[in-house]
Amino acid sequence: MDNRQFIEMAKKECKISYSPYSKIKVGAALVSENGEIFEGCNIENASYGLSMCAERVVLFKAVSEGQKKFTKIAVASSSQAVPPCGACRQALSEFSPEMEVVWEENGKIISKKLNELLPHSFGLKK
Ligand code: THU
Repeated sequence: MDNRQFIEMAKKECKISYSPYSKIKVGAALVSENGEIFEGCNIENASYGLSMCAERVVLFKAVSEGQKKFTKIAVASSSQAVPPCGACRQALSEFSPEMEVVWEENGKIISKKLNELLPHSFGLKK
């Protein structure tokens, strides 16, 4: 699957986003090392601070299904470009700082390594 198709997959996930407060629908698709694809969307809450980004929803879904290494994540939204926020970068970096991150900006696909988006990150000492 190429990056365009992968972003389309994340876009489809936007449709089931629960975002009555911001009205920004976000979808994410995550590929694990064994080739499995997980999908997730942002889920908001009346107490705003409990809202969760699509990237962490899909990450926690995958980790709770036994996956710990990931090769790529795509993020898409109904209204704007969505490079992952700082908190999601840190959460993703816990598992695979080398993963590829793709999103669309003004019709162009952007692809970056997570460690380019979060340089000098804090992590488990190995
Ligand atoms: N959001 C995401 O799901 N991912 C991002 O990378 C940025 C922001 C969500 C959180 C919230 O539900 C809405 O977008 C507005 O911030």
